[in-house]
Amino acid sequence: MINVTLNNGVEMPILGFGVFQVGAEETEQAVSDALAAGYRSIDTAAAYENEEAVGAAIAKSGIPREELFITTKLWVQDPGEDNTHKAFDASLAKLGLDYVDLYLIHQPFGDYYAEWRAMEKIYADGRARAIGVSNFAADRLLDLIINNKVVPAVNQIETHPFKQNAEYQEILTAEGVQIEAWGPFAEGKNGLFTNPILAEIGAAHGKSVAQVVLRAAIERGVVVIPKSVNPDRMAQNIDVFDFELTEDEMARVAALDTGETQFFEHTNPDMVRWLSGRRV
Ligand SMILES: NC(=O)c1ccc[n+]([C@@H]2O[C@H](COP(=O)([O-])OP(=O)(O)OC[C@H]3O[C@@H](n4cnc5c(N)ncnc54)[C@H](OP(=O)(O)O)[C@@H]3O)[C@@H](O)[C@H]2O)c1
Repeated sequence: MINVTLNNGVEMPILGFGVFQVGAEETEQAVSDALAAGYRSIDTAAAYENEEAVGAAIAKSGIPREELFITTKLWVQDPGEDNTHKAFDASLAKLGLDYVDLYLIHQPFGDYYAEWRAMEKIYADGRARAIGVSNFAADRLLDLIINNKVVPAVNQIETHPFKQNAEYQEILTAEGVQIEAWGPFAEGKNGLFTNPILAEIGAAHGKSVAQVVLRAAIERGVVVIPKSVNPDRMAQNIDVFDFELTEDEMARVAALDTGETQFFEHTNPDMVRWLSGRRV
């Protein structure tokens, strides 16, 4: 496993395991399988409603806590710092942990300045080894950085071959913020798994489309957290450290970028209303 070093010196695996849309009853088995396959970084969120199952799999694994890198996320709260402290305490209790490795603001909505101040306190108290954000566009992220003490360690954003965020990554890197890809396969949308260019590159290395996608992101320094509930695909997705893409192959992957979301824009008014109104 390759690690990236976050802006506070904390090491984070460049490849982890995501559990979005994995039902609570399925999650314990999936995380147990992932840990057995060698994953050590797990990405969950209060909004996924499977933190307890993630915690159960961690507890049963017997893997020393310091070998794991556990991320969870704060959902949109009612205003005020207290609500963040309550939400964090609830997540820790569900996970059965006394600290997380990374705590993220899940959405750039609501009273996120108060949330960030609360998270700075959580970080100062050592209950999160790093704090960061998710789905923050450049303007909100820069404003948060300029007006607060702790620079987010990570921004977790939609990133895959059809939306590569190369320019935004340069801004993030300049600010000391690690880019982390959510939906590294675009959940298979836009024919990703049968894309002929990715398949041809894969064939040249005896690798699958999924492996090419993850490898290309890793070679750009992007942290990836692919999700799978299938142990064969879990094993495939972590088996990406024994080959390298050529400059030409990286250029061919780069040319797939459309800059367009495969999901939704966080600036879409209907989505802002919907995400802001949801409570976990
Ligand atoms: N911060 C945010 O707002 C946000 C939003 C979305 C996601 N995330 C995080 O990012 C993680 C990953 O994103 P995602 O779960 O949305 O989607 P994803 O990882 O892009 O795609 C998952 C899909 O790909 C399939 N798959 C996985 N490996 C495969 C392989 N080797 N070959 C063929 N199909 C494969 C999975 O099916 P099987 O399970 O059947 O294998 C599943 O349908 C999430 O789990 C979550 O932790 C964060």
